[in-house]
Amino acid sequence: MSTLPKTLTFDTSTSRANPTPQPMKRLTVPRIRQRKGGEPLVMLTAYTVRMAQLLDPHCDMLLVGDSLGQVIYGLPHTVGVTMEMMALHGAAVVRGSYHAAVIVDMPFGSYEASPEQAFTNAARLLKETGAAAVKLEGGRALAPTIEFLTQRGIPVMGHVGLTPQAVNILGGYGVRGKSEAEAKAIVEDSVAVAQAGAFSLVIEGVLESIAIEVTNKVACPTIGIGASAQCDGQVLVTEDMLGMFERVPKFVKRYQDMAGVVEGAVKEYAEQVRSRSFPTEDQIYAG
Ligand code: KIV
Repeated sequence: MSTLPKTLTFDTSTSRANPTPQPMKRLTVPRIRQRKGGEPLVMLTAYTVRMAQLLDPHCDMLLVGDSLGQVIYGLPHTVGVTMEMMALHGAAVVRGSYHAAVIVDMPFGSYEASPEQAFTNAARLLKETGAAAVKLEGGRALAPTIEFLTQRGIPVMGHVGLTPQAVNILGGYGVRGKSEAEAKAIVEDSVAVAQAGAFSLVIEGVLESIAIEVTNKVACPTIGIGASAQCDGQVLVTEDMLGMFERVPKFVKRYQDMAGVVEGAVKEYAEQVRSRSFPTEDQIYAG
């Protein structure tokens, strides 16, 4: 059981971070599905309330990705991520957003055993976070589970191609679909997931020709990451595109050097503390 208070509203009297001044109508899963072939969908990851607030006005979807295992918790990969982590961070992102649909990743081990196991854990994530949908990794083997969930009120975003939870099988994060057989398997996986009822499909780390073929073949919007600009939308890990890390995959574009900005500010603060030039008159309560 989570110990988080079950409120999904934002307490403006106690929080430092102000909510979006003019709440916008939140995007729904059917409206996202309708964007197939239309204006590209913008998705970024978010794990915290403040980041959610900053991203929300500009994004159609916020993904509470299990990449939080590496980004927030310093884990070597996503295999160690738990339901508790996803529930707590998912609730924070919902509290910090008003416009984007929030999608929460199902962590490794929470859905693969059976459709029933997947339903129990997906329902818990939706109840405890207020998110619109869950995302899970896998192709044909997971299609019956996706059908089971969607027929029982749980919208599912699929994830095919490079599936990071399978790192121990794949042996790394190399691009997928280089051989003809693998390319065919990815297309078949995508079609199966879409036909099972997924409302959209993340396609990660594949040759561009595969991403284009999948986008043309499936009825739901495809969201590319290391795939193709021809997908129906794009997603990146926010901390990667903000330049928080030295090492990022080839497909990441750094839009900022946030690590440099943080380092510069902290260096200046440390120097001022050591030279007693902080705090100054402005920052102290003079009696
Ligand atoms: O966990 C995650 O952040 C993801 C995206 C990179 C698609 O699955």
